[in-house]
Amino acid sequence: MRACKMQWQISVMAVGAVMASCIYQTSLSQARADDTPEQLFNNACRTCHTIKEGDNRMGPNLFNIIGRRAGSLSGYGYSSAMKDADFAWDEAKLARFIASPDEVVPGNNMKPYSGLGSGDTKRIVAFLLSISAR
Ligand code: HEC
Repeated sequence: MRACKMQWQISVMAVGAVMASCIYQTSLSQARADDTPEQLFNNACRTCHTIKEGDNRMGPNLFNIIGRRAGSLSGYGYSSAMKDADFAWDEAKLARFIASPDEVVPGNNMKPYSGLGSGDTKRIVAFLLSISAR
């Protein structure tokens, strides 16, 4: 009888643990799936960049970034690598830069920044495109 009671208690505890871990995992994945592109931008870029014209922080503002020439804002002190980069930002360049800045502009000064997963990269580029088109 005692053994039986103990077994019952153990199985109640096990069910509790499984339920707790399910609830935990669900809330984690929901937090990611619910992130809007703007929230992703806020989490990954907003520490250093705003999207407001003229509002440079640690990084240059990203107002109208799609179509803008790299390193071209006059009020911001770029690295010489970025200043000398001879191209305009389009969706493909931005996606590659966000994934791996040094591959696109070697020696750039966007640090500390460690890149993003490809799904997040796409959504952030889509967000920057949407605010550039406004
Ligand atoms: C730790 C701060 C920091 C974070 C986080 C950061 N950046 Fe930057 N970013 C910079 C700095 C500093 C520069 C200027 C680099 C240079 O001059 O070489 C820059 C430059 C850029 C440029 C070039 C702008 C221009 O005028 O040519 C783009 C585009 C850019 N960042 C996009 C992003 C995006 C999108 C994110 C988020 C996914 C992001 N950055 C996250 C600091 C940051």
